[in-house]
Amino acid sequence: MKTIVIGCDNAAVELKNTLKKFMEDLGYTVENVGCDSSDDNTYYPYIAERVCEKIIESGYEKEGVLICGTGLGVAMCANKFPGIRAGVCHDSYSGERLKLSNNGNVICFGARVIGPELAKKILKEWLSLEFKDGSSTPKVAAIKELDAKNFK
Ligand code: RB5
Repeated sequence: MKTIVIGCDNAAVELKNTLKKFMEDLGYTVENVGCDSSDDNTYYPYIAERVCEKIIESGYEKEGVLICGTGLGVAMCANKFPGIRAGVCHDSYSGERLKLSNNGNVICFGARVIGPELAKKILKEWLSLEFKDGSSTPKVAAIKELDAKNFK
């Protein structure tokens, strides 16, 4: 089973705790990088950094879940790290395509946008999928070319 790194800002502690337990119950090892309290005002870019650094350190074996108020801020920040492909998924189709079309290794949610049950469903589907070689392979390779060009 994969190891999943999860992090959130203080807009999303409750959803983070729900999704952490949900993944543990499914059998995943979950690494929590905080924050763990609504009083913790760590800005979301630093939370995204913690998650992405753990994924990079693992040689991209680990995947990530990032949650803020909208999902947008953490996704923007995660995509600034080499080899990270992050997307906000508030519907099942996007969650499926994040893995199958984009080989996304970080899924992002907005705790002020999505409820826990839908987030759990989308997360479970995304975790269960594997990117396969096919028509999307050269497109993901092109993302990696952009990485190589712009992250020096
Ligand atoms: C609150 O700081 C809010 O701006 C944040 O959680 C997130 O939604 C940003 O994209």
